[in-house]
Amino acid sequence: MKLLLTNIQKLLQTRENPPQKVSGTEMNQLPSIDNAWVLIEDGIISDYGDMRNIPNVEGFKPIDCTGKIVMPAWCDSHTHIVYAGNREQEFIDRIKGLSYQEIAEKGGGIVNSAKKLQETSEKNLYKQSAKRLEEVMKLGTAAIEIKSGYGLTTEAESKMLRVAKKLEKNYPITVKTTFLGAHAVPTEYKENKTEYIDLICNDMLPKIAEEKLADYVDVFCEDGYFSVAETERILKEAQKYKLTPKIHVNQFNAIGGIAAGVKYDALSVDHLEVMTDEDIEALKGSETMPVALPSCSYFLSIPYTPGRKLIDAGLPLALATDYNPGSTPSGNMNFVVSTACIKMRLTPEEAINAATINGAYAMGISDTHGSITKGKVASLIITKAVPSYGYLPYSFGSNLIDSVIIKGEVV
Ligand code: NIG
Ligand code: FE
Repeated sequence: MKLLLTNIQKLLQTRENPPQKVSGTEMNQLPSIDNAWVLIEDGIISDYGDMRNIPNVEGFKPIDCTGKIVMPAWCDSHTHIVYAGNREQEFIDRIKGLSYQEIAEKGGGIVNSAKKLQETSEKNLYKQSAKRLEEVMKLGTAAIEIKSGYGLTTEAESKMLRVAKKLEKNYPITVKTTFLGAHAVPTEYKENKTEYIDLICNDMLPKIAEEKLADYVDVFCEDGYFSVAETERILKEAQKYKLTPKIHVNQFNAIGGIAAGVKYDALSVDHLEVMTDEDIEALKGSETMPVALPSCSYFLSIPYTPGRKLIDAGLPLALATDYNPGSTPSGNMNFVVSTACIKMRLTPEEAINAATINGAYAMGISDTHGSITKGKVASLIITKAVPSYGYLPYSFGSNLIDSVIIKGEVV
């Protein structure tokens, strides 16, 4: 389909020569065009500009965007949307006073989701996950990273990644997959964690690589999960299969995982609720994107990533949902952007950059996603009529999306 969007109040994130990512003070700049048009052909942004210079084209379906903002769709670089069932009971347990860690120690948490997933057929898992994917597409997400990590056996980890791959095939949304076998230690290996890591290295990694099921590798580097040395062992092994790391670090404790991620050229380090000055120093001058997950902090009532401090230190920052059944049962990037402004003191410009161009970087797709650029995929959000783009994070909880275009198709 060929589309011509006209009379756009403001077209955001217009970049002729887009950077791979934006950092520090650049994050407060959001190039835009007032009273704009965009031309979409074969799923690609073929041109855009100011209404005063609108080309005389034929054969395009016009969409009048009077009063509306148009921007690149969200790039959600960290999710676990392939899962079975839910963990509503743990939500109630936390309301009654148990912490996330206490619930995990009692056999709840990730291993609870793994048990459910192992017992769920691939077909049923696909059905449950597709529903979530459809939901987030309508909320403006056009590119998503999906992790395994609720399988914890070779077969169940592969099953999760096959489901993610099938979603990629059946929906227009861009999908990147990450192997997270080291998400938790299964109960049967509690007394022998090394044996489980052997299984990851000697069985899971080679099979997943051979079947080309993953683009990236992840480890939950945290006290009670995987130590820095164990994380490094897995990342080193994954290098053999050219799997770049995107790791869970510094959620509850700063144990040196960020420096380890940087050492192994991680594309991103995610969570970062607890940050030391050494962690910030380790990120400086690296190509690793720090990723904040504010709706996880909101849901678990844990500290927010010090996003303001990271940006003020000259670093880049990306925002993602972390959509998963335990710590963030929500895939709403609009809420994430708003929460980053409210709780992390990002400006709307910084938050939008973090959720578009920097999100794209954190999943290795900034050549094709994350900005309004000729030749990039036409994945766009058209808002309802709003006074300004700052109104989007300001009106937290309101759905101000009018429509979402993914690769040139209205979803
Ligand atoms: O990113 N922190 C580790 N992993 C997930 C949550 C896992 C779960 O509780 O199911 C996260 O928050
Ligand atoms: Fe996560």
